[in-house]
Order: sequence, then structure tokens, then C-alpha cells
Amino acid sequence: MAVTLSDIKGDVGSIAGHVKPHINQIKAAERVLKGATEKKVIHDFFVSRVGDDIHMVMLHENGEDAKEVHETAWNALKAATEEAQSLGLYAAGQDLLKDAFSGNVKGMGPGVAEMEFEPRKAEPIVLFMADKTSPSAFNIPLSKIYADPFTTSGLVIDPRLHDGFMIQVLDQKMGDVLEFSLPEELHDYLAIIGDLVRFSIKKVFSKDKKLGIAASVSTEKLSKIAGKYVGKDDPVAMARAQSGFPAVGELLQPFMTPYLVPGWMRGSHVGPLYPCSVDEANPTYFDGPPRIVALGFMIKGNRLIGEESDPQPGSHKPVDYFRGEEFGYARNIAMNIATYMRQHGPFMFERLPEEEMEYTTLNEVLKKIFEKRNVKNKNR
Ligand code: F6R
Ligand code: MG
Ligand code: MG
Repeated sequence: MAVTLSDIKGDVGSIAGHVKPHINQIKAAERVLKGATEKKVIHDFFVSRVGDDIHMVMLHENGEDAKEVHETAWNALKAATEEAQSLGLYAAGQDLLKDAFSGNVKGMGPGVAEMEFEPRKAEPIVLFMADKTSPSAFNIPLSKIYADPFTTSGLVIDPRLHDGFMIQVLDQKMGDVLEFSLPEELHDYLAIIGDLVRFSIKKVFSKDKKLGIAASVSTEKLSKIAGKYVGKDDPVAMARAQSGFPAVGELLQPFMTPYLVPGWMRGSHVGPLYPCSVDEANPTYFDGPPRIVALGFMIKGNRLIGEESDPQPGSHKPVDYFRGEEFGYARNIAMNIATYMRQHGPFMFERLPEEEMEYTTLNEVLKKIFEKRNVKNKNR
């Protein structure tokens, strides 16, 4: 029986800045998803969050892009928006860019990562939720995981991984999906994926057809959808682990290096990716640094399994991998990098080049500056 794991996420309001949703918003989303389990639209779920983003992780049998599943998530975000409005929270409904649901949440604001597969006897999953950054934040870590034998020793030692992986890359500018077979096409791949503005990883597949999909990333660009700045894309990635896929430890290792990613304050800066627990995922320093949380759980038939023995749908407690002291080392390095980068203030390359900034409002400021000085710049 093939199942589909979907994480549909959105920022629909938060307490005192773009920091954290209110518990009533989480509960409102949970109520809607619970209703969907009763109607058998989804089998199981849990709701989590990173920074100001609410994540709805759902297990079902309807395949990717399923209208009823997307509509469930849309309704959950609407319910969380109503809570935000009634509490007067900040940026209530921010990521709901359309008034009414129309078949699929893609292009409507929320981010989506999904993968459909035949679960193995034991199916470990790692979910990576990020805040204050864009989908390309996963370009380096996922390249390390699936293409670097210095990270994933299974690529060398384990015959099931030895042939490598196939990676799908989205060209955000042209909308094309490019496929790379690794390691054979590694140098072509690196020539493309190094551009963190234009390209982002969409999906990864095992070359063993029986295993199928390995990982999936949300690739929605909010600013592209709305045509102006409306919030960051704050991506999510999900990966299958062990027995032919990278081990959990291989999936987590790259996050010990806080790579520089676009995002942070006003989606317009460059900052280190800071690995932390859900509890610590409150972006406080210059609205950051960009956060990454990793959650682990199992899929057993039509159930999600977390740390507790027999929880009700919705009440699962996944393993919170970055909670431990080991990743305190990465947090310290990240804070050193973050404070160093901030010394540059409004100067590039702490601030992103204009065309790469999420705030499209700099153009208005520049226009006034030029107009005041009677400079006619036809290119602006
Ligand atoms: C970035 C983010 C925040 C806001 C910043 C300004 O993704 O959410 O850094 O951009 O707090 O927010 P506004 O424009 O709402 O005052
Ligand atoms: Mg926000
Ligand atoms: Mg966010």
C-alpha cells in the first residue's frame, strides 16, 4: 500500500514580531486535521512549528497534490488565521495569498513538500523545518548528504547506496526541472546548484527503483506568487532514512556546519543556518539567525510513530534531534558567524544584492533618491 507524506506549512500570524505562533493557532489547526482523520481524508498527522511557521505533517493515501488533503491544510491555516485575528496577532493570515481555495495550495502561499512511496518494513523519516530562509538553504546540506562520500560513508561502504542518487533541481527563473545522475554528473550538478538564488533541489531519488523517492523539498517562492514581498519562503525538506538511504546520522551531519543562506531579517540578508530544537526555534537575533529544526518519526502502515507508545492521531511526539548538546557546538559557531556578518550592517554581502532581496521595496527608496537628485536612470 503506497502512502503519501505531506507537510503543508504557512505563517499566518505570530506573537510580537515574526517569532512564534500562539498555542491557540496550533490547537485550531489540530482541530481541523483531527476532523479530517475522522472523515478518513488523512490517516494520521501532527502539527509542529519553527519560528512563525505552522507545519501540518499528514499521512494519507491520496497521492501528491491531492485536492482534499490540500484543502484540509488550507482550512487549518484559515482556522489558525481566525485565531490570530481574534487575538490581534502580528501579520495574521500572511501566507494565505488568495481568498478562496481552488484545488491545490501551490501558488496560493503555503509551502508544500510531499512524497509518495511504498513504506518498507521499518520506515524512518527525518523532517527538516526551516525559518527565515529560502528553499535553496537545503542546496548545500542535501548535496553533502546525497553526493559527498566524505559526509555519507554509505555511498562508499554500503552497496545499496553505492550507485548514488538522482537529484531533481528546479530552475526558479525558468520553471524547468533539471535532473542529475550522481556521481557521474557531479560537476554539471555543482555548476548549477551553487547558485542559491536561481536553483533549488526539488526531489531526490534512489537509483534502486524498488526504493524510489529519497527526499522532497518545498520550492514555493512567495514573492514570485504575489509579485511583491509578502514573507519568506521558509522551506521544509523531508527525507527517508536507513537501509538503502542515508542513515539518520548522515542526514544530520551537514547541519553541524552553519552554512550561509539567504534570508534572515526582511528576507534580505545572508546568515548562518542555526540548528535548534522546536522550543528554541524563536528567531531573536536580528530576526534570526535562520533556524533549522530536525524531527524524526516512523511510519507504520497508516500510523505515524513518535516517542510515545500509543498516542491519538495528532498527539505524536517526534524525536527532536537538534535539542542535544552536540549541536550546541554548531550553535556557537553560528552565533560567531552571525555577529561577524552583522558588523557589515547594510553593506553587501551581509545585505543581499538588490535583485536577490525578498523586500522589493528597496526599489521605491532608490527611485526617490534618484528623483530627488534629478538623475534619470532609465534602467530602474
Ligand atoms: C523575515 C521576516 C522578518 C520581517 C521583519 C519586518 O522573513 O519575517 O524578518 O521581514 O520583521 O517585518 P514587517 O515588514 O512585517 O515589519
Ligand atoms: Mg512572519
Ligand atoms: Mg517564517
